[in-house]
Amino acid sequence: MPKADVLVYNIGQVVLFPRKPLRRVSPEAAGIKESYAIAIRDGNVVEVGPSGIVKSKYECNVCINAEGRLVTPGLVDPHTHLIFAGSREDEFELKLMGYTYLEILKRGGGIYRTVRMTRNSSIEELIDKARKTLELVLSGGTTTVETKSGYGLLPEHEIKMLEAAKRASKDLPIKVVRTLLAHVIPEEYLDKRSDYIKLFDSIIVEVSKRKIAKYIDVFCDRGAFNVNESLHILRRGIEEGLRARMHADQLEYMGCSLLAEKVYLDSIDHLEKTPPKNARIFAVTGTVATFTPTSMVAMMEIEKPKLVGELKRLGVPIAVGSDYNPNNMTPLQQTTMDISTYILGLTPLEALAAATVNAAWNIREEGGQLIPRAPGDLIVWDMENYRWIGYTWGYDKTLAVISKGKVWKNLIS
Ligand code: NIG
Ligand code: FE
Repeated sequence: MPKADVLVYNIGQVVLFPRKPLRRVSPEAAGIKESYAIAIRDGNVVEVGPSGIVKSKYECNVCINAEGRLVTPGLVDPHTHLIFAGSREDEFELKLMGYTYLEILKRGGGIYRTVRMTRNSSIEELIDKARKTLELVLSGGTTTVETKSGYGLLPEHEIKMLEAAKRASKDLPIKVVRTLLAHVIPEEYLDKRSDYIKLFDSIIVEVSKRKIAKYIDVFCDRGAFNVNESLHILRRGIEEGLRARMHADQLEYMGCSLLAEKVYLDSIDHLEKTPPKNARIFAVTGTVATFTPTSMVAMMEIEKPKLVGELKRLGVPIAVGSDYNPNNMTPLQQTTMDISTYILGLTPLEALAAATVNAAWNIREEGGQLIPRAPGDLIVWDMENYRWIGYTWGYDKTLAVISKGKVWKNLIS
């Protein structure tokens, strides 16, 4: 009898998702099955099929009776800033008093404040803090996560952040994808921007030599990098062998998302201020549109982006990310997924695709689907079917989390 490390059976409803991004989300395209079982061995899915057949075929080490509940792929969070020191709860109150994000940043708060605290932290302190976050998000069903540098700004501290991101997941069953982020011009370089761009070139070279990042990213926005600076940074990253992604049009529209026509970007993230007519750029270039709905809440300006409807109409893959950072302390991708129904108007199934299969495609990683040879990443939910996504939210709805074939959490048996 073949052996399975983990067998999940009596699944009420499972959403399998295909091995490609979903451009138009429908129950047919998503691969929804009932009364199924999934067998996992050596970290990967080995078989998916009708519960009775698969269950009788395998001898299981861990056998989980899903008792008719919903099972989905593990969640993929394609946008976080999980390496940082300190907190900024006092700025939360400033925002409530009416101060804007940019006003706080210009007074040396915001990102600049986290930069000072992160530079003053040892790599071990950053690792300890990030590891706790990784354990927390795993428990909430995130099985793959992207994270960035960007709170060091100077070479040694940017590298410290990426090394911390590499070491934080040691022995944890979670995949961490690392990104070098050109976040803001450091305060000490504000009157010599071009010198900093040159210094950043040297950071790109060093990061690529050490192979500690997969992506180059730039915050193209008011208060950060302009369009030309961003183009230069993205091109240099690509020349050094990194893939490219971008933060764009979050605070103000300066034309940043138009850069997708000039450089090959896997994803553009944020897009709060992107004009709906730019949706065609995503359709033409294949760039994924990634929204970060909880950070829209944290910015205290929630307006449903009109761009979403246009993207759906053109069949552009939409992803969502937590954008967990000291300005937006929402680490769970589960929350991002649920709240994207309210804030972006995604349907429950679109929200699930955005937090799994489309998010995995966004960061060009495996995961986000439950088909043979896919990573053994799955969640047994305290929900009957996917229609409960968004309908219920605000608490941890995962009952069992299996990641990379390991049982991370099991409240069922
Ligand atoms: O993605 N937009 C720029 N960067 C972060 C916020 C960083 C911070 O405020 O510390 C974001 O929202
Ligand atoms: Fe971000």
